[in-house]
Formats: sequence, C-alpha cells, structure tokens
Amino acid sequence: MILSAINTMNLKFDPVLSAQDEENFRFFLNNAYGLHLHEHQQDKFKKAVYDTCQKFCISSAAALLEKIQQDPFCDERILLIQQITVDESYFFRDDEQQKFLKTEFLPKLIAQKRQAQDKHLRIWSAGCSTGQEIYSIAILLYQLLPDFSEWTLHLLGSDISHQSLEQAIAGKYNRWSIRTDENFINHSGYFTPSDERYYQLKDFIKNKVKFFYLNLAEDTFPSLMNQTCYLDLILCRNVFIYFTPEVIEKACHQFAQALRPEGVLMLSVTDPVNFSCLELNKEKWGEVFYFKRKNEFLVEETQDDSYYSETSLSSFDNIDSASIVSQPVKDEPQSDDLEEIKKKVIPLLRKSLWSQVIESCNLALVNYSKDADLHQFKAKSLVNLGQFNEAKLACEKSIVCDDLDPHTYLLYGLILLQLELYDEAEKAFRQTVFLNHDFMEAHYQLGQVLLYKGQKKQGVKAIKNALKLAEEGDKNQPVHNVITLTYASFSEIIKNELTVLNDKQ
Ligand SMILES: C[S@@+](CC[C@H](N)C(=O)[O-])C[C@H]1O[C@@H](n2cnc3c(N)ncnc32)[C@H](O)[C@@H]1O
Repeated sequence: MILSAINTMNLKFDPVLSAQDEENFRFFLNNAYGLHLHEHQQDKFKKAVYDTCQKFCISSAAALLEKIQQDPFCDERILLIQQITVDESYFFRDDEQQKFLKTEFLPKLIAQKRQAQDKHLRIWSAGCSTGQEIYSIAILLYQLLPDFSEWTLHLLGSDISHQSLEQAIAGKYNRWSIRTDENFINHSGYFTPSDERYYQLKDFIKNKVKFFYLNLAEDTFPSLMNQTCYLDLILCRNVFIYFTPEVIEKACHQFAQALRPEGVLMLSVTDPVNFSCLELNKEKWGEVFYFKRKNEFLVEETQDDSYYSETSLSSFDNIDSASIVSQPVKDEPQSDDLEEIKKKVIPLLRKSLWSQVIESCNLALVNYSKDADLHQFKAKSLVNLGQFNEAKLACEKSIVCDDLDPHTYLLYGLILLQLELYDEAEKAFRQTVFLNHDFMEAHYQLGQVLLYKGQKKQGVKAIKNALKLAEEGDKNQPVHNVITLTYASFSEIIKNELTVLNDKQ
C-alpha cells in the first residue's frame, strides 16, 4: 500500500472549497504538473480534495494544500494526484494509429535499421498510465520481428501516478483493459489467466519494458540519465489534453530534442495540436497525423540553451563558456594548443552540436591521441547521436588514457546501459563509486542497473545512497548530464521512485 497511517477517525473536515482554495489548487496543479482542470473535471477534483482530506484527517482544503506544497512525497499528495489524473488506457488503443504503427511506421523503421545493421529500437510512452500503450508496442514488435530476441529493445514507460506505475510494472490486467477479441486474450500467448477477472502479461513481453517516474512538466528530459534520448518514437497520447498550452509547447521542444533526426512523436486525435514547434514537421498518413523531427536544425536559432541536456564534464564544468568563442569550428584551422582546442569544443558540447564536436575531436586526436578528454567528448557526442557502439569504443579509449576519471566511468556505464550490457554497466558504476564515493549520479545508476538485474534489495539500497547524497549536497547543484535538473529536484524524483519501488516489495 502507498498510503500508510490512513486514519478516518475524528474527521472534522469542512467540505466547502472556497473560490480562493480552488484558485490556489489550480495554480499548484498547473505549476507542479502542467495540469489544467477542465470544466467537466470540477466534480472529480472536488471529490479528490474531499476524499484526501477525509482519509488523512485534514480539516480543510487550505490545510491540505499547505501540506502537499511543503512535502512533495507525502501520501496526501500521491493520493490526490492519483485521483485527479485520468488513467484510462487499454491495449491497441485507436485502430487507425495501430494500423499506421503496424503496417507503415514500424515495418519501415525495422527495415531501415536492418539495412544499417543496427538492431536497436528506442520507444518511449510518455504518460503511460498503467502500461498498455507501451506493452502493445512490445507485442507489435514481437509480431513484426522474427528475430525478436536478437534486438535490443529500449522500451520505456513513464508517468506521475505512483499507482499507475505500480500496475504497469505488475502487468496484470482485467478484460476491459484488453478489450480486443476473445481470441487475442485466450489464444495469443501473451497472457496467462491469473484469476477470474485478471490476465497476467507473460514475462517475455513484460520484461522488455522499463517504467519510471517522470513529470512531463519538468526539465528532466531528454537525458542520458533516464535514457530519454535519441528515440525513434515517442507516444504521448491523451496526455496533452490535460495540459496548458505553455506546458504543451515546452514539452514539445523537449520531445523534439529527445528524438533522433526523423524520429516521430505521436499524440492522440483528441490532443491539441495547434502548438508551434520549429523542430517538428506535422505529417499525415490517411487520417493519422504525427510529428517528425526535422533532419537537421540549428539549435542556436530555434531555442535557448536551457532546453538542452547538459554536458557537465569533469574538470571543465567551471569554464566560463561566455568567455569562449563559440563559433562552429568546421572551417577554422585547428589550433595546435590542446587547451585552446578544448576551450573551443566545450561550448559546442554545451550547445549539443554533436557532429561538430566529433569533427573537432577527430582532428585534434591526430596530434593528441592520448588525451582522455578528447575521447570522452567524442564518446559523449556519439552517444547523443545514437552511435552507442562507437561511443563505447571512444569511452574505452578515454579510460585507457586516464583510468582514474570517475566521470568517464559514469559515461561508460550509461552507454553500456543503452546497449543493455547490464553486468558491464554495473562494473562501470561500481568503479565510479570506488573512485568517488560521493558520486550521487553513480549510486543512482548503480541502483537502476541492479533493479534491471532483478536485485531489488541492493538496487533500492544504492538508490537510497544517492538520495542521501542528493539531500546532503548543494540543492542548486546541477545533476551531471542534465543541467536543468538540480540536486533538490533530483532528490524529489528519487523519492518518487522509491515510493513506487517500496510498494512493490
Ligand atoms: C489518459 S492517460 C493516457 C495513457 C496512455 N498514454 C494512453 O493513451 O492509453 C493520461 C496519463 O497522463 C499522466 N500524466 C498527467 N500529467 C502528467 C505529467 N505532468 N507528467 C507525466 N504524466 C502525466 C496521467 O497520470 C495519466 O496516467
């Protein structure tokens, strides 16, 4: 149970929700989660406030708001969000979109990848609710890939509702969630009847998907830290309908950054689509529309830096990029001085100009082949371009040149995670922690990898270590690889994750 210490005794709740209370709640929900309450959700919202107050013996709506603002992880907040969000989802939702995915998008994507001899697929269901959307994709892929087991499937589901995430992780559904024909449920081989009303999704599909807490109203994506980068497809269906236009626009910019060039964002037919996002082209297939990330776009011209994942790299974190000329180095002769070269490359990294970083590093490596930083910069750029095997090699070269830099081991571990090489990733994160025991991000990733390996107890322990360090550290310090995420907000995310995990134990 998420909700501990629920006490329904001695309730003296004043059920009147004043106009001011309502306004304050609206502001809070919008600010914290991007949520905009529609007229038809009023009753549900009032009931959620009332029920939460009653369950926790809170005397007024104002007192509840104060509590949930002060403590983002309190049971009251978790319950309220659970009740306000709409978790409706089912397998193979929207026939036309499913047809597009099954007969057009996925077969073409698979063919492209086969041609490039790249058996990786990266798909994220953002606002996944109880998991049916991303599990439907896993099933489609199983049907479309005769060599299913040979592919590295990077399938992610994220949400803000703890209860939904718990259900998604459990993979147990009632008939209504699988409202396709009887044959699909009974004879498809994907489910085992678990009791009279429920069906358990089998492990060969269930274990392909990773679920995690992610608030789409925050700047926590794209990021290598939660693997939301270089994606082939993002599904964010029936989520924007609850968001304000400002949050939709911002989320779309971030989605565009999380997609690989020509990667696709799919919304539902009922979601608002009249937002402006220069990095995405709206395209149609019959009645189905989707957004394709443009092949190339100049980041400086389209967005400000805050949308980009950070490149906080070891000793260069403190270099003042404003004092550095940040012109593309493409046509400039390379300076012979290594430090000068690095000073030019770092702003390119900060601006996510990955190809230019690689080009500059390759040129510099001709003369400075033993420089660990150049290999590390190159690895970082390659991973952002989805070239994971090449990134792994570059990282290994960096480690050969300097085997004592914990940042390189962290990056190496993150790359190995993308390749689903969990044992090797675990080693890399352990090495990072060995070199720097207080490396918060390494403890967190070690926890993640242990969870993937099914070692829940040790995984939770490592994540708790990360939480301790995040809480002890400077709360404004940016998390490595995610400049927009501070230690303070990361500790909130970790607490949310721990809540979901502990409930599953
Ligand atoms: C109607 S469900 C959609 C489920 C699934 N995408 C589908 O179409 O079947 C909407 C989901 O969005 C989630 N959600 C709402 N606000 C969110 C936010 N700020 N960040 C992430 N998820 C959010 C809700 O918790 C809910 O699970």
